[in-house]
Amino acid sequence: MEERLQKFLSSNGVCSRRKAEEYILAGKVKVNGKEVTKLGTKINPETDQIYFENKLISNETNKVYILLNKPIGYVTTLKDQFNRNSVIDLIKIKQKVVPAGRLDMYTSGALIFSNDGDFIYKITHPKHEISKTYQVTVKGIITLEEIEKLKNGVDIGDYITKKCEAKIMKIDKEKDISRVELVIHEGKNRQVRHMCEAIGKKVLALHRSKIGSLSVKDLKLGTWRYLKKSEVDMLLKN
Ligand code: URA
Repeated sequence: MEERLQKFLSSNGVCSRRKAEEYILAGKVKVNGKEVTKLGTKINPETDQIYFENKLISNETNKVYILLNKPIGYVTTLKDQFNRNSVIDLIKIKQKVVPAGRLDMYTSGALIFSNDGDFIYKITHPKHEISKTYQVTVKGIITLEEIEKLKNGVDIGDYITKKCEAKIMKIDKEKDISRVELVIHEGKNRQVRHMCEAIGKKVLALHRSKIGSLSVKDLKLGTWRYLKKSEVDMLLKN
């Protein structure tokens, strides 16, 4: 996420923002080895190296916000007793980030990471109810009655799910499969799989296509990107 050079200097304890402007104008600040004297220059704290009086400013404490398109076959836990692939292996940066919530090993799609504990707490708190959109492929031909049941809430054992949005995206009679889009505002363990079980449908594939309005359609599976400030703000506003 880009930020102004003077903000970077002040938030990393070099000086106040006003002083930072003076220092920039005086040619004391370099970005990637090049003197920068233009106020308002934007830098990326992740990829740019910032020097003050020829000393590199550490940005390891900078907050980062990441959107990953998780492939199947990766667990969301950071340490796994069975030594399975972990999503954290896909994000090779120096900051220690953690996932906001989780996706099952055989679910793909949108997963957010950050090293900002407040942010993680806020966006995973049930009161925020950030919508999550899933593309679910089930065995068999789904009926409108079954869609209505999903929409109105189903009993998943110890819990009745809240109202949600559900629509049929595709029915393939030859292959005997259906694809459904579900938008839910809660996140019980394996909720989507349990909801489908509750209407007698077996899940063949599950992909989280969106968190709020953040989509992973432009990210290849296994790749990630930093969130823009406006995207972080949007998640917090929910
Ligand atoms: N619901 C599931 O069943 N699994 C996930 O990974 C996410 C939602």
